[in-house]
Amino acid sequence: MSIFQELTNRDQVFEFLTPATSPVDVRHGPILYLEDVNVSFDGFKAINNLNLTIDDGELRCIIGPNGAGKTTMMDIITGKTRPDTGSVWFGSRHNLLTLSEPDIASLGIGRKFQKPTVFEALTVFENLELAMAADKRVFPTLTALMKPEYRERIDEVLEMIGLKELHHALAGILSHGQKQWLEIGMLLMQKPRLLLVDEPVAGMTEQEMERTAELLISLAGKQSVVVVEHDMGFVRSIARKVTVLHQGSVLAEGSMDQVSNHPDVIKVYLGEEA
Ligand SMILES: Nc1ncnc2c1ncn2[C@@H]1O[C@H](COP(=O)(O)OP(=O)(O)OP(=O)(O)O)[C@@H](O)[C@H]1O
Ligand SMILES: [Mg+2]
Repeated sequence: MSIFQELTNRDQVFEFLTPATSPVDVRHGPILYLEDVNVSFDGFKAINNLNLTIDDGELRCIIGPNGAGKTTMMDIITGKTRPDTGSVWFGSRHNLLTLSEPDIASLGIGRKFQKPTVFEALTVFENLELAMAADKRVFPTLTALMKPEYRERIDEVLEMIGLKELHHALAGILSHGQKQWLEIGMLLMQKPRLLLVDEPVAGMTEQEMERTAELLISLAGKQSVVVVEHDMGFVRSIARKVTVLHQGSVLAEGSMDQVSNHPDVIKVYLGEEA
């Protein structure tokens, strides 16, 4: 039996055959749950009793003035910053405050930073290939089996991000917007359950923004997506539920119309412009 196991690498095979979606348990509640989270940097409260709940498959927009704590909130979810107090759960099973950054990533939480970080000297296809190989659930068996499956996943992602025609192009020649899509594609290779996207449309053309809106909307349902963005036109074009952060807490939550007519939100945004 042990020889059989050695010869076939059964554990790895089974691990690979398990759906890449994480074992996150959302039967009894949300996919992401932050309760009474506090973070101070040198006495400055960047996150102040933050409470936030994201449902499975939801597309949530987070807005708020500079310094509101939006990026810090993502740092907390991904394990980059540890809160002083509070709880952060991924489904009802995973206490994210007990896990390392790589463990949180391999549970299926993908994060897109503002600047695209694709490998410019590689083709679009190779970038996606590399993203898949970086997944430690796949790497050990990558060359041994499943070639058609992983090829299929790359094709699927190329289709989603609209770069099918450009799959042999070097990533270095892509426009800024196309690089952003490629990077989202690299995250999608690992079939995340939750995608965190910080300011995806900064520096994009109108057309690229429209395409990005379509992409993010198409992802929702299959995975949960949290988008932080300052461009209100863009937010309006994708908004379902919107959360407004201010001074590290939730100031308002609701539809785009509800939050943009909220007196406290108006005050904060007018105050910023004044
Ligand atoms: N590592 C850190 N050390 C000290 N202060 C920090 C650190 N990270 C964030 N801050 C501070 O915490 C506050 C919240 O910052 P954060 O980057 O989360 O805001 P944001 O809402 O993402 O703003 P923006 O819209 O400008 O990106 C800011 O005052 C920032 O200066
Ligand atoms: Mg930020």
